[in-house]
Amino acid sequence: MALRVGVVGGGQLARMMIAPAVELGVELRVLAEEEGMSASLAASAVGDYRDAETILAFARDVDVVTFDHEHVPQDVLHALVDAGVAVHPGPDALQYAQDKLAMRAKLDELGMPQPDWASVSDEASLQAFIDDHGGRAVVKTPRGGYDGKGVRVVSAASEAADWLADGGPLLAEQLVDFTRELAQQVARRPSGDVVAYPVVETVQRDGVCAEVIAPAPHAPERLAEIAAQVGVAIAEGLGVTGMLAVELFETTDQRILVNELAMRPHNSGHWTQDGAWTSQFEQHLRAVLDLPLGDPSPRAAWSVMVNILGGPASDSLDARFAAAMADHPDAKIHTYGKAPRPGRKVGHVNVTGDDLDDVTYDARSAASHFLD
Ligand SMILES: Nc1ncnc2c1ncn2[C@@H]1O[C@H](COP(=O)(O)OP(=O)(O)OP(=O)(O)O)[C@@H](O)[C@H]1O
Ligand SMILES: [Mg+2]
Repeated sequence: MALRVGVVGGGQLARMMIAPAVELGVELRVLAEEEGMSASLAASAVGDYRDAETILAFARDVDVVTFDHEHVPQDVLHALVDAGVAVHPGPDALQYAQDKLAMRAKLDELGMPQPDWASVSDEASLQAFIDDHGGRAVVKTPRGGYDGKGVRVVSAASEAADWLADGGPLLAEQLVDFTRELAQQVARRPSGDVVAYPVVETVQRDGVCAEVIAPAPHAPERLAEIAAQVGVAIAEGLGVTGMLAVELFETTDQRILVNELAMRPHNSGHWTQDGAWTSQFEQHLRAVLDLPLGDPSPRAAWSVMVNILGGPASDSLDARFAAAMADHPDAKIHTYGKAPRPGRKVGHVNVTGDDLDDVTYDARSAASHFLD
């Protein structure tokens, strides 16, 4: 009988597991939040992921439960584990992707390089942190942030007064003077094997990932090795199973510092669909099923991924797809079947090749068909 994987969450990450699942002969089931979501091709159930009964019923018909996001509450995750369900990543690992304060404390314990940070619960302690760090700091809500929502650069504690008023501690971080952002992905299976993808460069605009270049250009071999070691150490230290993405800063003095973690396929790894021997979506399925892992090596010298965001006009994307395809037969255009609201990720373009300038130009130019 086919192995069955249940994915909680019906977004594009679940959707992009569908093709490799078909190839691997894995039966994919998706618990979507509502009808008509990105992964609705495979959505076999629609329901509330915060409800233990709903997820338990969903889990009954699969061999392993995994995720398209990190929002399933800990008590629901533990209810699954207590019922004997295989959950990957498990709750003990996932807590560090759910709560940035818990992550910072754990990474300190593991001796991982990170920005200075503090847990702050009132304006006085935040102001003290700001004063100690050159008059500015980055303040983050520990939970629920995405695409830069829940992140603010402040120069006075009063600028975070609304968040502090919500109760609960906030994460204050040193404003890192970085030259660029990198991401390191690794896959780990429950029985322990780990593989590391090449470290990539990520470019964010307005707090949202815009482009990814794989591998990271001009990265000294030693820096790439350190990034891979950090990724593997975190996967092992936290007991992560499945795909792990470690977002990193490269500082002006060429150190790497950990920004945050995602324990699932990640936007920084979309290039692997067309640029690596094993895509992150196939790898995630293999890892959570505890199957032998695939080769993470690149299959081309360079891969560039450019995100397609919904624009202000946001008319139908169909005509634009045809135009982009006609102009760029070499580009791989991936679409998520989502309504194109402004700023929303609705697809991406991957281009691979030998010359980075050509590859970058082609990927941007194909994606530009979707700009208003
Ligand atoms: N300590 C810091 N110093 C400088 N810049 C920072 C810092 N923390 C975050 N940033 C910037 O803000 C962006 C968003 O921060 P972070 O990744 O923590 O938030 P997020 O909303 O959870 O992200 P995502 O979009 O990955 O879900 C980072 O990619 C980086 O550009
Ligand atoms: Mg981030």
